[in-house]
Amino acid sequence: MNALCFIGHSTMRPSARFLISRTSKSFLGSAKQPLRSNRTHSSLANAGRPAPATIITPRPPLPAAGFKTYRLMSTIFHPGFAPPPIAFANRGSYGVASRAVVVRQQHSTSVETRVNEGNFERIYVQNGNAASAKPLVVERIDKDENIREVVSVEEGDSNLRNPEGIEIVSPRKEESDIEKEAWKLLNDAVVRYCGSPVGTVAANDPGDKTPLNYDQVFIRDFVPSALAFLLRGEGEIVRNFLLHTLQLQSWEKTVDCYNPGQGLMPASFKVSTVTLDGDNTEEVLDPDFGESAIGRVAPVDSGLWWIIMLRAYGKITGDYTLQERVDVQTGIKLVLNLCLADGFDMFPSLLVTDGSCMIDRRMGIHGHPLEIQALFYSALRCGREMLAVNDGSKNLVRAINNRLSALSFHIREYYWVDMKKMNEIYRYKTEEYSLDATNKFNIYPEQIPMWLMDWIPEEGGYLIGNLQPAHMDFRFFTLGNLWSVISSLSTPKQNEAILNLIEGKWNDIVGHMPLKICYPALENEEWRIITGSDPKNTPWSYHNGGSWPTLLWQFALACIKTGRIELARKAVNMAESKLVADRWAEYYDTRNGKFIGKQARLYQTWTIAGFLTSKVLLENPEKASLLFWEEDYELLEMCVCALSKSSRKKCSRVAAKSQILV
Ligand code: GLC
Repeated sequence: MNALCFIGHSTMRPSARFLISRTSKSFLGSAKQPLRSNRTHSSLANAGRPAPATIITPRPPLPAAGFKTYRLMSTIFHPGFAPPPIAFANRGSYGVASRAVVVRQQHSTSVETRVNEGNFERIYVQNGNAASAKPLVVERIDKDENIREVVSVEEGDSNLRNPEGIEIVSPRKEESDIEKEAWKLLNDAVVRYCGSPVGTVAANDPGDKTPLNYDQVFIRDFVPSALAFLLRGEGEIVRNFLLHTLQLQSWEKTVDCYNPGQGLMPASFKVSTVTLDGDNTEEVLDPDFGESAIGRVAPVDSGLWWIIMLRAYGKITGDYTLQERVDVQTGIKLVLNLCLADGFDMFPSLLVTDGSCMIDRRMGIHGHPLEIQALFYSALRCGREMLAVNDGSKNLVRAINNRLSALSFHIREYYWVDMKKMNEIYRYKTEEYSLDATNKFNIYPEQIPMWLMDWIPEEGGYLIGNLQPAHMDFRFFTLGNLWSVISSLSTPKQNEAILNLIEGKWNDIVGHMPLKICYPALENEEWRIITGSDPKNTPWSYHNGGSWPTLLWQFALACIKTGRIELARKAVNMAESKLVADRWAEYYDTRNGKFIGKQARLYQTWTIAGFLTSKVLLENPEKASLLFWEEDYELLEMCVCALSKSSRKKCSRVAAKSQILV
C-alpha cells in the first residue's frame, strides 16, 4: 500500500509543506478516513463560502475583509502557493492526489497583516535566503494544468540529528529504574509522520478505550517532552515539531467567525491516514484550533509556547539556523502581531477568553490571566532575541520593546500581593476619579477573601491570578507564578518571595504530589457560578485545585534560578516513586493531592516528560540557565506610558520604579 504524506489546511501559508512518502506503514494507529469526510462541523462552517482551494484559483470576490485577504493571497503567493486539487472542508486536512511535492516557497513575499496598520503591519519575507535552506527545486504541474509552480525540497530537512554544536548531556551513568522506564515511555509516546518523529501524544494508556483527543500532539504538552529530548541531545524531533506546527499555523483570517485569526497556532494536531483510491493511502497532519475542543476554547498559549520552544531549541542545540529561516521568522512575526494587535483593551496585558491556556475549561480565567501574561512576556523576550532587525521588522521590534516594558510594570505593580500590599488594599478608598488614583482599578476591600488574610507568610508574596476593573482574582496560580520567576516578569525580590511562599505553604501547594495548579479551589456557590457547575472541576479536582505533576519541571527551573535547588529536589524525590506506582497519572485530587484524579489519564506524557526534564535539570543546573531570563535593566529604563509623554502628569512608573527595582 502506498502512503502519501502531507500537511494541509485551507488557511495555508505560502511555505506550505506537502510531503509525499511512499510507505505502507500507517503510523500510530491513525484512523483511516474516507477522503473529504473528516470534519463533522466543517460543512456548516463552510456554508456560503468558496472552497479553500479557491484561494488561488479564480473565484467570485469574497465580501469585505475576506476579499482583501483573497486578493493578497492570490496575487502575492501565486504561483508558489498550491491549492489542493481535492480539498476537504474548511480548514481541516485535505488531500492531494497528484504526485507533487511542495516544501518551501522561495519567492519574495510581502504579506499584509490587518492589524495596527500604522505600526508593524507588513511582514516582509525576502527572497528565500534562509541560512539553513539548501533548496532542491522541482517543478510541479498540478492536476489543474493552469497551475504551474516551482516548489522546493530541502535535503535532509527531517534528518538533522544532533546538528553541529549540540552538546550531548550524558544522563547520569547510573540511571534509576524509574528513569529508565520513563525514557522508554517517552519514546513510546513519539508520534511519527512520514517516518520522522514530530511530537508526542498527550497520553498513551493502552487500557484507555476513549482517548478523546489525548491521542493527539498538544503544543503545550510537548514542551517538557521537547526539553527532555533536547537536554538528552535529541534535536531532530523538536526541529521537526517546530517546522510542522509552523506549517499548520493559521495564515488567513477569514470572515467566518469559526476560523482562527492569522498567526494562531493550533492547540493540537494528529496524524491521520486517509484512503485515496485503491491501495493508496496518505498521511495528513490535522490541526485543531479549538474548533473540536471541548468548549471551543482558543489555544492562545500555543503560539507563545512555540516561540519559547524555538528559542530553547537554539540555546540548547546551538543550531540557530532554524530560527533564522525566513519562514520561521515569519511565523514568529505572525504570532506576535496577533498578540500585539490593537483592540478595545486598555491594559498592556493580553486580553483572552476563558480556558485559553493549560486550564482549558471554564474556570473564571477570562480577561487577563497571569499564565497568559507570563507566557506572553517570555514570548516577547524570545521574539526580541530572535527576530532579525531590518526594515520589515523594525516597527514590530519597537512595539515588542514598548510592550515588554509596559507589561512588566503592570504586572509587577498591580498583580503583586504580599502583607504590605494587602494592608494597602484593605484600606483602599474607592470611587476615585482622577489620573493619580491610588486604587486605580476600584477594588473594593471587601473582595479580599477570608482565606488570604492568614495565608500569606510574612516573607512571602505572589502574583494574583487576574486583574480587571473592580476585580482582583486572588487565587494563586502556580504556572503563572513559576513562569514569571523564570522569565523575570517579576522582580528579583518578588521571585524570592514567591519561592518563600511555596516553601512556607508547602502542604497547600506541594502536599502529597507537586504541584497544585491553583490554590484554593472554588467551592459551593463560587464553584457553581464560576465554573458553571462543572462536574470535572469540582473543588480540589482537575483544574480546580488539583495537583499536576507536569508542573515539576517549571518548579525545578524556578528553584534553580533563585538558588533554591533543594526545594526542587525535595519535590522531585517525593514524586518519583509515587509517579511510577500511579502509572504516571495526569493529575491528583483532594486538598493535598492524595488521590489520583477522578478522571485522570494514565501514562500522561507531560507527567513523564516533566519528571525527566526536572531530573536532567537538577543534575545539570548549568543547562537550566539556557532556559530562563535574567532581569533586563534596559527594559526597565524605558518608559513608554502615555502619561510620561504628556506634560499633564508625572509618570507614576518613574516613582514606582524605585520601589520595584531590586
Ligand atoms: C487537558 C488539559 C490541557 C492539556 C490536555 C492534553 O485538556 O487541561 O492543559 O493540554 O488535557 O493533555
